[in-house]
Amino acid sequence: MDVERVIKLVLFSCITLIALIKQCLSDPNDEACLTNLNKSLQDPNKSLHNWNQQTFAKPCNDSISNLQGAICNNGRIYKLSLNNLSLRGTISPFLSNCTNLQALDLSSNFLTGPIPPELQSLVNLAVLNLSSNRLEGEIPPQLTLCAYLNIIDFHDNLLTGPIPQQLGLLNRLSAFDVSNNRLSGPIPVLLSNRSGPNLPRFNASSFEGNKDLYGYPLPPLRSKGLSILAIVGIGLGSGLASLVLSFTGVCIWLKVTDRKVALEEGKISHLMPDY
Ligand SMILES: *[C@@H]1O[C@H](CO)[C@@H](O)[C@H](O)[C@H]1NC(C)=O
Ligand SMILES: *[C@@H]1O[C@H](CO)[C@@H](O)[C@H](O)[C@H]1NC(C)=O
Ligand SMILES: *[C@@H]1O[C@H](CO)[C@@H](O)[C@H](O)[C@H]1NC(C)=O
Ligand SMILES: *[C@@H]1O[C@H](CO)[C@@H](O)[C@H](O)[C@H]1NC(C)=O
Ligand SMILES: *[C@@H]1O[C@H](CO)[C@@H](O)[C@H](O)[C@H]1NC(C)=O
Ligand SMILES: *[C@@H]1O[C@H](CO)[C@@H](O)[C@H](O)[C@H]1NC(C)=O
Ligand SMILES: *[C@@H]1O[C@H](CO)[C@@H](O)[C@H](O)[C@H]1NC(C)=O
Ligand SMILES: *[C@@H]1O[C@H](CO)[C@@H](O)[C@H](O)[C@H]1NC(C)=O
Repeated sequence: MDVERVIKLVLFSCITLIALIKQCLSDPNDEACLTNLNKSLQDPNKSLHNWNQQTFAKPCNDSISNLQGAICNNGRIYKLSLNNLSLRGTISPFLSNCTNLQALDLSSNFLTGPIPPELQSLVNLAVLNLSSNRLEGEIPPQLTLCAYLNIIDFHDNLLTGPIPQQLGLLNRLSAFDVSNNRLSGPIPVLLSNRSGPNLPRFNASSFEGNKDLYGYPLPPLRSKGLSILAIVGIGLGSGLASLVLSFTGVCIWLKVTDRKVALEEGKISHLMPDY
C-alpha cells in the first residue's frame, strides 16, 4: 500500500517536473509569434527551412536556432531576417508576441497589406526594414512607442497618408527612408531638420518619389488647386486668344473677300451691259 503511494507520488512529481521543464524550454510568446507569422506568410519557393510546429515550440537552444532566418539570444528570438525570399502574404500582428525582437527584416519580398500597429509592443525593436514590398495603408504613429528604433526603412512600397509627426520624437533614428511610396502631406520638421549632437539629418533621398510630400528637404507646398487653376487659366486664356485671333482673321478675310466681291461685282457690273 505504502509502496504504491510512493510510486504514485514519484510518478506524479516526474510528470509535473517534465511539464515544467517543457514550459521553460518553449516560450509561449515566441511560439505564438512564429505560428501566426507562418499562417500569414506564403512561401511559394519553399525558402523557410525547418518552419514547423516542432521548431516553433522550441525555436532557440540558447543562442542557436534551427529556424531559417531566426537568430536567438538567451533562448529568445532577437532577430528575424527573412529578406529576399520571394515571400507573399501579410505581416502578422502577432509578431508583437516576439517580445525580445530587436531586428525585423522582411525587405525585398512581395508582402501586401498594412504595417500592423501592434508592432508597438516590440519595445526592444531597433531595426525595422520592410523595404521593397507592396505594403499599403498608413505608417502607424504607434511605432513611436518603439523608443529604441535606429532604422526605419520603408522605401519602395505603396504606403499612403502622411508621415506621422510623432516619428520625429524617435531620437535614436540613424536611418529613415520612405522614398518611393504614395505618401502625402508635410514632412515633419522634427525628422528633416533635427538639431542636436549625433542627430543625423535626413536629406531629400529619404523622401523623394512620393505622391504629394512637401516641405524641407523637398520643395515647399505647391498648391495643387492653384496649379490646376493656372492650367485652366492658361487654357482658357489661350483658347480665348486664339478665338479672338481667328475671329479677327475671319473678319479680315471676310472684309477682303467682301471688297474683292464688291470690286468683282463692280467689274462685272461694269462689263455687263445694262438692261
Ligand atoms: C506553415 O504554413 C504552411 C502554409 O503556408 C502550412 O502548410 C504549414 O502547416 C504551417 N506550419 C505550421 C507548423 O503551422
Ligand atoms: C543545444 O545546444 C547544445 C550545445 O550546442 C547541444 O549540446 C544540445 O544537444 C542542444 N540541444 C538541443 C535540444 O538541440
Ligand atoms: C535575391 O535572391 C535572388 C535569388 O536567390 C538572387 O539572385 C539575388 O541576388 C538576391 N538579391 C539580393 C539583393 O540579395
Ligand atoms: C523564387 O522562384 C521564382 C520562380 O520560380 C524565381 O524567379 C525567384 O528568383 C525565386 N526567388 C528566390 C528568392 O529564390
Ligand atoms: C499576441 O499578440 C496578439 C496581437 O497583438 C495579442 O492580442 C496577444 O495578447 C498576444 N499574446 C501573448 C501571449 O502575448
Ligand atoms: C534594408 O534592406 C535592404 C535590402 O533588402 C537594404 O538594401 C537596405 O540597405 C536596408 N536598409 C537599411 C537602412 O539598412
Ligand atoms: C532648421 O532649424 C534651424 C534651427 O535649428 C532653423 O534656423 C531653420 O530655419 C530650420 N530650417 C527649416 C527649413 O525648417
Ligand atoms: C543623403 O543621405 C544619404 C545617407 O543617408 C547619403 O548616402 C547621400 O549621399 C546623401 N545625399 C546627398 C545629396 O547629400
